[in-house]
Amino acid sequence: MHNVRKIDDDIYFLGVNDRRIELFENVYPVPDGVSYNSYLILDENNCLIDTADASAEKQLKENLAYLLKDGKKLDYIVVNHMEPDHSACLKEIVRDYPEATVVFNAKSLQMAENYGCRFERVIVVAEGNVLPLGKHTLRFVMAPMVHWPEVMVSYDETTKTLFSADAFGSFGTLHGHLYADEIEYKGAYTDEMRRYYTNIVGKYGVQVSSLLKKASGLPIERVCPLHGLIWRRDLSYLLSLYATWASYTFEKQGALVCYSSVYGNTANAAEIFAARLSDGGLKNIALYDVSKTDASYLVAESFRYSHVVLIANTYNAGIFPKMAYFVDELVSHNLKNRTFALVESGSWAPVSGGLLQEKIGKLPGARILEPRTKFVSSPNEDTLSSLLSAADAVLEDLGVGKQQETGIPSEGRIDNTAFFKFSYGLFLLTAKDGKHNGCIINTAVQLTDSPKRVNFAVNKANLTHDMILRTGKANVSILTESAPFSLYTRFGMQSGRTEDKFEGFDGYSVSANGLTYLTRNCAAYLSVTVKEAHDCGSHTLFVAEVDEAVTLSDEKPVTYAYYFENVKPKKQVQAEEKKKGWVCKICGYVYEGEELPADFVCPLCKHGADDFERL
Ligand code: FEO
Repeated sequence: MHNVRKIDDDIYFLGVNDRRIELFENVYPVPDGVSYNSYLILDENNCLIDTADASAEKQLKENLAYLLKDGKKLDYIVVNHMEPDHSACLKEIVRDYPEATVVFNAKSLQMAENYGCRFERVIVVAEGNVLPLGKHTLRFVMAPMVHWPEVMVSYDETTKTLFSADAFGSFGTLHGHLYADEIEYKGAYTDEMRRYYTNIVGKYGVQVSSLLKKASGLPIERVCPLHGLIWRRDLSYLLSLYATWASYTFEKQGALVCYSSVYGNTANAAEIFAARLSDGGLKNIALYDVSKTDASYLVAESFRYSHVVLIANTYNAGIFPKMAYFVDELVSHNLKNRTFALVESGSWAPVSGGLLQEKIGKLPGARILEPRTKFVSSPNEDTLSSLLSAADAVLEDLGVGKQQETGIPSEGRIDNTAFFKFSYGLFLLTAKDGKHNGCIINTAVQLTDSPKRVNFAVNKANLTHDMILRTGKANVSILTESAPFSLYTRFGMQSGRTEDKFEGFDGYSVSANGLTYLTRNCAAYLSVTVKEAHDCGSHTLFVAEVDEAVTLSDEKPVTYAYYFENVKPKKQVQAEEKKKGWVCKICGYVYEGEELPADFVCPLCKHGADDFERL
């Protein structure tokens, strides 16, 4: 019996869930199994996109036969990825549908032949080639090493659907769902996506970044991976995750503590170490026994955390095997730019620390904190202080703990007015994704001269943020002191999600990249292409290359301080004086109520509760 699912008017999901599999690729535990996704486009020419694992053959063939009932032909089979979990049914399906032409690229064709697949009807496509199906047109984009060298992705120009091969996939079966937005995808599903990404393609961050760059030029509205759920909403979240992982940027400022222990003494040292971190004020701590937790989970956690603490016993004059395997996995997955702390133990001659240091030395950008500490047999009063010192070194490197020493809680040391002393400028940041939009930002600076790069930070709540993440293009207009308050209210104090910010506004033109820039109250504008996007909490930091830079006037660029002194109307607050409540110091928005919720975010300028003061 078929179990096909309809995705669009004529796109179908033929995927098969595999709950019997224990180890994906015979390496990675998949307690919730995995799905092998396959898709069919019914058009003037019917096209199957990838097949599935051998274990899924019966169901896949039933699904395909159902959709092609009534004598429909199968015209094309696109092979995005030749790994057998997606191509094992290829031979059988060509045997059933001999009229089908198989679409390879040069590498996948060669690989297919190596797997014993030789077909009469074959076409070979290359970067940018298109395959017209009738109503739909597929465009092929090469994605070598995401995950194998022959990988490509296929983009349906008609429905703006990206058939993304292994990219954007996940471990786990689908539980009756089809779309990520049908579940709480930011929790456990993201954890399994991370474990899938880091273990399957984590080594190939450069190649994933290259695919993300190519994808940023496509207006994508749906992502159909070869494993896991389909994405049709919140694509900025998905792309932001991949940008973070591909650039080896950590997600949590904190400590992952991994230990190996036979009789519990090194485990005890790890507990003491983690407790010291917690007592010192560190919130993000995860503690694992490498013998209990599979290395694939630890690799994913290592991508997630900024600091990795290895507390390792010595075994057969070497590193305990499970710890050695885990660290070898970090090396083979090419984890970059992490900070490590090492503690070695042994019943008579500890050597694990030095050996671990050699392995970690192979990781690009790795730092190892001093002191590297050791104890014999079990931690005791004599060795405790060096263990605690090693934990303190982690705290110090993370910049936490000093507040406790002075007795001043961390909140008390943050004076928000200190941030106003920065000599920020003010800028209109514009983007286009279907429509034009823009927002006011205060963080844009030149980063490098060669190549000419700038960086700017944008609040994630802004529509402009999502548009830039999707399109990779932006214009930065540098505002002058002449910019009126109305310009700030138009672009900074209303949302582009509900308003057309350019409606009735004539102070702009369009640059060569098709985006808007200001023609009045503007010292210069820059057109940029995003090269990196870093998730920094409330904001994303974009690093972008300058494509065009044009000076428009000799007026003085405005500073944040000038805006507060001379532009923002001071009467804005006075007019609200009779009300009870809180006023936003940034834009003047008034919240009426006795208590301002701690997580309140200004609906106009998106600043948090810290930037409000009582009326
Ligand atoms: Fe799911 Fe690289 O195969």
